[in-house]
Parts: sequence; C-alpha cells; structure tokens
Amino acid sequence: MARITLGIETSCDETAAAVYHEQKGVLSNVLFSQISSHVEFGGVLPEVASRRQLEKINTIIEETLSVAGIELRDIDVIAVTHKPGLPGSLLAGVCFAKGLAFASGKKLIGINHLEGHAFSPLIEHRVPFPHLSLTASGGHTALYLIEDFGVYTLLGETIDDAAGEAFDKIARFMHYEYPGGPKIESLARQANFKDYFHYPRPMNKGLTFSFSGLKTAVLYDLIKRNAFDMTTKTFLKKEDDVLKQQIASSVLVCVNDIFINKIKQALEQFPQVKAITFAGGVACNKFIKQSFQEFANKHNITFFAPSPQYCTDNGAMIAFVGNYKAEQGKYSNFDLDILR
Ligand code: KG4
Ligand code: ZN
Repeated sequence: MARITLGIETSCDETAAAVYHEQKGVLSNVLFSQISSHVEFGGVLPEVASRRQLEKINTIIEETLSVAGIELRDIDVIAVTHKPGLPGSLLAGVCFAKGLAFASGKKLIGINHLEGHAFSPLIEHRVPFPHLSLTASGGHTALYLIEDFGVYTLLGETIDDAAGEAFDKIARFMHYEYPGGPKIESLARQANFKDYFHYPRPMNKGLTFSFSGLKTAVLYDLIKRNAFDMTTKTFLKKEDDVLKQQIASSVLVCVNDIFINKIKQALEQFPQVKAITFAGGVACNKFIKQSFQEFANKHNITFFAPSPQYCTDNGAMIAFVGNYKAEQGKYSNFDLDILR
C-alpha cells in the first residue's frame, strides 16, 4: 500500500496542512493566513498567532482530508513542523499532531521547517543531486548543499536581516503594508528592473548573507532626498511614483546581485553541483527567478523553483519531507518537543 502522509505547519502566522501520497504526490494543500490579524500591529504578534493557530487547526485539517478525498484512517504518518518558529505557534501544531497520532495509532515525525523549504522544489521537479538550494523568506535566508533526500549542509545564512525582511522593512519606509516583497516587485517592474541608485553590495566574506546594510542605505538615501522624516517616521514623497519605483527597482536588483554573487562563489567551491533551486516566500519573485534561470543556462546547470503555493509557508513541504523520512524509517517518539 502506498504511504499517505499528513503534513502540519504552524511555525509562524500560517495554519497549513496537506496530504501527500507516495505515488500520486500532493492530494491537498490547505492554508489559513493570519495576515489580516496582524496588519494593525505592523508585524506578527506571537500571542495572537498562537491563539489563531489553536482556533483554526482542527478545521484546516478536516478540510485538508476532505479536499484529498480521504479519511483519517487512510493516513499512515503525521508529519509536523517542530522547529524553528514562534514557540506558541509551534506548540499548537506539535500538541495537535501528537494527540492525533497517539489517539489514532499513526506514526509521528517532527520536521525542521527549513528542511521543508529547502526540499520544496522537489515536490514538483526531479532535481538532480547534488544541488544548491537558496531559501529566502521573511524569517530566513540560507544556502544549502543538498546531496540526497534529507542529506544537506548549511553553507551560509544571513548574519542579520532575512532577504524578505529587507523587502518588508524597505516597503514599510514607503508606508506599504506587509508583505512588502510583492509590492517591491510590482513597483520595480514599472521601472524596468534597472539599477538607478546602486545601493552598496555587502562585502562580507564566505557564503553568509547580510541585508541590514541595504535597509540602512535606502533610509539614508531617502533622508538625503528629503523624502523621509526620521522624527515622525513619515515618508514625504507618497505621490512621487517615479521615486518609489526607482527605489524598489534598485533594491530588487541589489538583492538579486547579492544572491547571484553567493551562488557563484558556492559553485566555485562545489563544481560538482548539477542544479540550483530557489525556495521560500521570496522565490515567488519572477525577476529573481528569471535571473537565476539565465545564470544557470550560462553555467550549464539546471534551475528549479516551486510554484508559489509551495514557496510561502505550506503544509505540502512538511508532508513531502515526512514522506521521505518515513521511507528512511526516521520516526519521532511521542516525547517530540518544539525547538526554537
Ligand atoms: O515563506 P514566507 O511565506 O514566510 C516566512 O517564513 O517568512 O515568506 C514571506 C516573505 C515576506 O518577506 C515577503 O515579502 C516575501 O516572502 N515575498 C516576496 C515576494 N512574495 C513574497 N519577496 C519578493 N518578491 C515577491 N514576489
Ligand atoms: Zn517559512
């Protein structure tokens, strides 16, 4: 009998679940996003996030099973994100998964959220090993060398802000609400993705990333142009569409250059690499994907990114990792706990 895995993801402000069938792939992928609950606070409020998780989890899992056209008894494995994330949010998923698995006699597997993102391109594509995976979201930016299912090495991560966080913060300078990434992309498109202001590229060595300097450079630039009042934190050129587009475009080109530069360095260190993948919320960005594709063509390797539903936080990536971990016999005990 083919293995069926239920994946549960509640690490931050999304309540997500999915069913993965060993042979047929993703049967359902359901998500409840709390974005609207957090807009008024300008960010995710942990107490609100965990409360919403508790309110939604039951319904989301029922819906996931129903969309997949199966019942709880058809599930073999329950995979749940247990690290890293907001403790209250993680606990909601882990406690629910443990209770459900114990009561229904299913196997349980705790999943690393970042492993979920890093392997999400493999949900839809046969990506050859070894490959490089760049995961960029609002909370993380990391580059991995991936040698097989579940076999990976962290090559470098951000030493300050995550790439998505930089987009979100810079968009916020111009009074755009979370998430800023899609807004930056649409503004940049109107300015033809040109590098108007050439913000500095960080000089940090090795394969680590840094984005806080970009955020500061944009802020100084805005102040210099009399476009930002630091005392009241007010953007003073709200009507200046051209300026907003040029800032967004320069920011996006800068982030893309930082990514490409690190991937280039990693390829020099690991010439055996056959492909590049791009995952996490920022991998929704069509401009960066196009640039990675062109880079890959030039270097005679392949490039893969998941469709947008598997880029942002989702249950399918957790179910997918759960499926190969079950295949490898890597189950968790019922003393599974959260790790921040
Ligand atoms: O993976 P995700 O849903 O949640 C986290 O784990 O953070 O990623 C959300 C992040 C946000 O920072 C958002 O601005 C960014 O992904 N993002 C984008 C785009 N769509 C979402 N960044 C750049 N371009 C986009 N089109
Ligand atoms: Zn994530």
